[in-house]
Amino acid sequence: RPAVVVLASGTGSLLAAIIDATSAPNSPARITGVVVDRDCRAAELAGAAGIELRRCVVADHADRTAWDAALTDVVADLGADLVVTAGFMKILGRAFLDRFAGRIINSHPALLPSFPGAHAVRDALAHGVKVTGATVHLVDDGVDTGPILAQAPVMIDDTDDEISLHDRIKTVERVLLVQVIASFVTRAVVSEGRKVRFS
Ligand code: GAR
Repeated sequence: RPAVVVLASGTGSLLAAIIDATSAPNSPARITGVVVDRDCRAAELAGAAGIELRRCVVADHADRTAWDAALTDVVADLGADLVVTAGFMKILGRAFLDRFAGRIINSHPALLPSFPGAHAVRDALAHGVKVTGATVHLVDDGVDTGPILAQAPVMIDDTDDEISLHDRIKTVERVLLVQVIASFVTRAVVSEGRKVRFS
């Protein structure tokens, strides 16, 4: 079964959903490792699930380029066929993108190309949009700019705050991300310019 390596920095609810899905006996993929860039709940979840956990912390390296090279080596060492960034709050560098080109997917809590970046939920609320959602996309060298693999909408209520809205988006993200991982490892990604779809 193809090997998935998950990069995470946060509470790890997306990671938990991937762990759940890949521990099913008929799962088409398996997780071979989790890499974190800080101490976080995601690291604890990986440890508790008995998944190989690696830490790659920027402050432990001379600069971002050295950190990126180390991260590339760690993920390659874990045998990644597919890299999933699941709440990983760092921009991946050139070496990493080159090494895993076309095999890195990210889950983002907005309907891209609206509201890219680290504050997507806050930005959507501040803009006053009435619908937002979740996007899973291929990672390229921009911030949340890569070709879109799947999206799902979430309605915004007048009473929503950042926490309540993010919770509902994450519920949708977990399902979408698990579906996209299954598609990615069982089908081919067909591109037509910017447009991508599963075969
Ligand atoms: C998710 O909503 C993910 O899309 C977002 O962080 C959350 C992680 O949740 N990622 C970004 O905003 C990246 N720019 P989790 O730690 O519970 O899995």
